Amino acid sequence: MSESFSPHPVAVVTGGARGIGEAAVRKFAALGHAVAALDVDRERGEALAAELRAQGASVQFHYCDVADAVAVDALASRLQQEMGAASALVTSAALIPNTDSIMTMDLDTHDRMWRVNYHGTVHACRSFGRHMVEAACGGSIITLGSINSVHTMPLPAYNPGKAAIARLTQLLAAELGRHAIRVNSVGPTYVMTPELQARIDSGERDLPRMMQVHALDTLPTPADIADAIAFLCSTAARTITGVLLPVDSGFIASATYMTYSGGVPWHRS
Ligand SMILES: NC(=O)c1ccc[n+]([C@@H]2O[C@H](COP(=O)([O-])OP(=O)(O)OC[C@H]3O[C@@H](n4cnc5c(N)ncnc54)[C@H](O)[C@@H]3O)[C@@H](O)[C@H]2O)c1
Repeated sequence: MSESFSPHPVAVVTGGARGIGEAAVRKFAALGHAVAALDVDRERGEALAAELRAQGASVQFHYCDVADAVAVDALASRLQQEMGAASALVTSAALIPNTDSIMTMDLDTHDRMWRVNYHGTVHACRSFGRHMVEAACGGSIITLGSINSVHTMPLPAYNPGKAAIARLTQLLAAELGRHAIRVNSVGPTYVMTPELQARIDSGERDLPRMMQVHALDTLPTPADIADAIAFLCSTAARTITGVLLPVDSGFIASATYMTYSGGVPWHRS
């Protein structure tokens, strides 16, 4: 077993400067982890780390483009030496697109999205996962899936990428289970981030229309997703691996039900 240089369990969060990644950083910090937040948004990442350090937490920001396998690997080795192996890895870094068509989408944008969203997840899981294996302390990896992992949506590259991440999660669970490393995915529906709220406020998104295909009448917040991540990393989930946990207000259960051509046999109040 390798020595851990941090007195606290270590959590690494890619895309940790904003949104769900930021919420995961805040959650792990509140749970007493030493947290490394990786992101390309240096300004937000540094500000978040400084805010949480001022509250007594152990949070560092590191600039890291997850599409760059060499950079991810170098940072993973550095953090292993400085903090010890991570007991939790969350891969939240991603590019989030607008509606587009495969026939018309710009190919460079398409390829970049695969490099960040899918390849970036592979890079982080390989580089940090190898140190977790070497440390022989077990651990938990959480990938970011989506309702896109399950349903078709007009989001080229992003939508098939989320399906690929669900399968990658199962492959990693099968590979790493013998090292007591569990690998799961969380699958949010539309998350009520400040960016989504702004789009609703400006009329770019129609909230009542979005809610028509959900079972519940409220969307998850980033903190709700972080709670699910923390659950999957906890001992309460010690025999759960290889799953996609929807945090979706019932979208997957009800999207086809709500759009049935014969109509829904009841009215929403
Ligand atoms: N927001 C949603 O409604 C929603 C729904 C389902 C799934 N998800 C998934 O959750 C994850 C996080 O989404 P979010 O809403 O927090 O997004 P966000 O855009 O708020 O945050 C993503 C973060 O990733 C960072 N990032 C982008 N490219 C990077 C790169 N190359 N290297 C490192 N960091 C990079 C960004 O700077 C940003 O801080 C994504 O995987 C997304 O697909 C989001």
